[in-house]
Amino acid sequence: MRIAIDGPAGSGKSTVAHAISDRFGFTLLDTGAMYRSVALTCLERGIDPNDAEAATKVAQEIEITFGQGPAGQTVQVDGHDVTSAIRTPEVDKAVSPVAAVPAVREAMVAQQRALGAVGDVVAEGRDIGTVVFPDAEVKVFLTADPAARALRRAVQRDGGDAAKDANATADEAAVAEILADIKRRDAYDSSREASPLKPAADAHHIDSSLLSVDEVVAQIADLMEAARS
Ligand code: DC
Repeated sequence: MRIAIDGPAGSGKSTVAHAISDRFGFTLLDTGAMYRSVALTCLERGIDPNDAEAATKVAQEIEITFGQGPAGQTVQVDGHDVTSAIRTPEVDKAVSPVAAVPAVREAMVAQQRALGAVGDVVAEGRDIGTVVFPDAEVKVFLTADPAARALRRAVQRDGGDAAKDANATADEAAVAEILADIKRRDAYDSSREASPLKPAADAHHIDSSLLSVDEVVAQIADLMEAARS
């Protein structure tokens, strides 16, 4: 079975996809980590993220792999661990223009389909239900209001998980900065020409602003059950 979870930054996709992967033993495919890996490699090589041709070359050249570490899934580029390096504010800024390049997306989608051809998969991103796995048995479009998303990202950056800890707090200035960045990225990701962030026609919409992870996972488990019968 394939489960596609799409939605904007900080909607809880990652936490929910991890929970589903743990609970049902599904392979986890974090496609945002792949675009981040391309953006990071561009920055490391001194390539302007707005240089579509150079970014495409990077996307076609690098090998992105996933592993398992004590703290969860790890990401490698050509064998080097980039798990933390892809989550910096610099990469947050560089990733949108890189992900908007059609040829970069083509290279990533091909890798995602290959990685997803392994049986039961839960994939999270922006275009999973629309482009990567349009025939996924379960499609979810997860949203949350921007303030909730900014707080989650800020807590995540401090090593916590606001989706699991309702009392989690973060530095106000950091939350404000992330909120501005989230709004900028939402606008960019939704308005780009290549595979913009949009729900598949047959996606189930879930607003996670006021739901716990367990409640979202329970809704998806019901959708999985319905898809099986
Ligand atoms: O989910 P994330 O924040 O790690 O994603 C990083 C960026 O990659 C985000 O700005 C949008 C882009 N992305 C995309 O265009 N398509 C995907 N399937 C996943 C992420």
